[in-house]
Amino acid sequence: MLPPPLKQRVRESFDRAALTYDSAAVVQRRVCVRLLDELDASAPARILDAGCGTGHGARLLRARWPAARITGVDFAPAMLDFARRETDACLAADIEKLPLPAGHFDLWWSSLTIQWCAADAVFAEAARVLAPGGRLALSTLGPDTFNELRAAFSGIDQHRHTLPFSEPEVIAESLRQAGLNTLTLRRERHTVHYPDLKTLLRAVKAIGAHNVGTDARSGMMGRQAWKKVEAAYERHRTAAGLPASYDVILCYARK
Ligand SMILES: C[S@@+](CC[C@H](N)C(=O)[O-])C[C@H]1O[C@@H](n2cnc3c(N)ncnc32)[C@H](O)[C@@H]1O
Repeated sequence: MLPPPLKQRVRESFDRAALTYDSAAVVQRRVCVRLLDELDASAPARILDAGCGTGHGARLLRARWPAARITGVDFAPAMLDFARRETDACLAADIEKLPLPAGHFDLWWSSLTIQWCAADAVFAEAARVLAPGGRLALSTLGPDTFNELRAAFSGIDQHRHTLPFSEPEVIAESLRQAGLNTLTLRRERHTVHYPDLKTLLRAVKAIGAHNVGTDARSGMMGRQAWKKVEAAYERHRTAAGLPASYDVILCYARK
């Protein structure tokens, strides 16, 4: 779990990124589409989008199920300013502690959000707000995410450069502990290419996803060290550009 000051910093990063989020969120959009693709077709009446961001997931859910009532929750109010257009109700709250009644939702949906959270707390809340038989659809990131970035920094410093991502089995066990039965667990790689490392890091920042928790580098990097990181990352270049890999976990469960 992130200590409160760090959680506050994560929240502020997302809040500041609300204006630039949609233009940079290439993988996030693709993953929402994949999460919906694999979700079974039965229509939910009440949907919760946990960590809704600007409402991309809600927009897709609405297109699939126009009659559903969609509630978006996000702890970054500036994100909700956009999500409001895509949802029936919006709530500025922490998905680890939802100010919502028990047994209310038929579908708890969350895309690329819980990697910043205490998964046990999030799933306990998901189980609480879901009605009996309600479904959970979740995407998050696995440990191979940003492999290239970690490799490029490994010779330079010992700081953390990515979040501590969980293995799919750990997620499934955490869901089980919360009383949710995992139906499907999939893992797939999504790669985005950038012309250079500066553009890649700028894109991560434009989404607000650059806060990686404890042990992150706090000071500026020297010119020499930066050149070394750039050179190390260049080893991964392909004809398409510099790759950033996302180890995406898709998970479906039922209460
Ligand atoms: C990478 S964005 C994903 C947004 C959206 N689900 C999408 O797919 O485009 C992560 C979102 O989760 C929100 N978030 C992260 N931790 C949260 C928490 N504990 N409670 C509520 N929102 C949270 C952030 O503010 C941000 O909007």
